[in-house]
Amino acid sequence: MVRSFLRDTDLSPAEAAEVFELAHRYKTTRGAGVLDILNGQSWGLIFFKKSTRTRLSFEAGVYELGGNPMVMSSNDLQISRGETIEDTARVMGRYLHGLVIRTFEQEMVDKFAKYSGRPVVNALTDLLHPCQSYTDMFTMMEHFSNGAPNVESLKGKKFVFFGDTACNMAYSLALAGSMFGVEVVLCGPEEFKPGKELDVLFDSANLEKSYTFTPDPEAAAKNADVLYTDVWVSMGKEDEKAERIKQMSPYQVNDNLFKLADKNAIFMHCLPAHANEEVSESVLESPRSIIFDQAENRLHVQKAIMSWLVQKNRQLNG
Ligand code: CP
Ligand code: NVA
Repeated sequence: MVRSFLRDTDLSPAEAAEVFELAHRYKTTRGAGVLDILNGQSWGLIFFKKSTRTRLSFEAGVYELGGNPMVMSSNDLQISRGETIEDTARVMGRYLHGLVIRTFEQEMVDKFAKYSGRPVVNALTDLLHPCQSYTDMFTMMEHFSNGAPNVESLKGKKFVFFGDTACNMAYSLALAGSMFGVEVVLCGPEEFKPGKELDVLFDSANLEKSYTFTPDPEAAAKNADVLYTDVWVSMGKEDEKAERIKQMSPYQVNDNLFKLADKNAIFMHCLPAHANEEVSESVLESPRSIIFDQAENRLHVQKAIMSWLVQKNRQLNG
């Protein structure tokens, strides 16, 4: 059996806490030289969608762990001319030691894991973005802990996600938040409320839900510790842009919503951001905004995820 990271719940909360500890260690010792955990390994980073943070942080991360990152756009592969995922994955498994994949369908990352025989990391699908949600939990831990970041600091925090609550970020944050006792509120238009697929994700992981949905932004913001948003038009949804902007405009995160939140509330966004669309420029640029800590932490957390998988798979398979 080869462990992968395809869904937020692929690690238990205790295992995720190990990843966070490792991420903290990597962050505080960065610059002390290249590590050797991926010595002699080549990792394929395959992108079916655009990326800035994910691509750069994984490429730098594999290098800093002593490995060889090989970045590929799906357009350059025979997949774009009809070669199957099953065959591509079996071929890649013969050359590469791990895969990081950003794509549309969740089923595709599942197939890569099944057929490559290598650890696969989900670098965003239409359904989930677990590397980002883990990074966000870690960044919140850094912010709320006294001393070293610890998962206990997340318990009972009111975390509100505004906007498209049926998108990958909303789902991953609902799952990861529920793993660590965060009180997650998903707030957006009824037309974009979470679908049954989120229930399926919770049920198949046997995870108790700690999220609720409301279409009322003022009620949601009240006493919140974290106000979070994501783009209103996710990659692949560009045809719905006009409709989405119209329906989501009451959910912009701005100073009015912050007035209702806890006085120490912070602002988070996975980025890329659209100032004065899903978030006002005043909030985006305010001292409450920890968006660049989130962006930086992608590097440390993803290095920890890859190391954790490599070490776990060595224990399991020798
Ligand atoms: N947040 C995030 O995944 O950014 P990129 O799309 O730039 O990778
Ligand atoms: N929901 C966004 C996240 C980008 C990191 C998208 O899928 O485009």
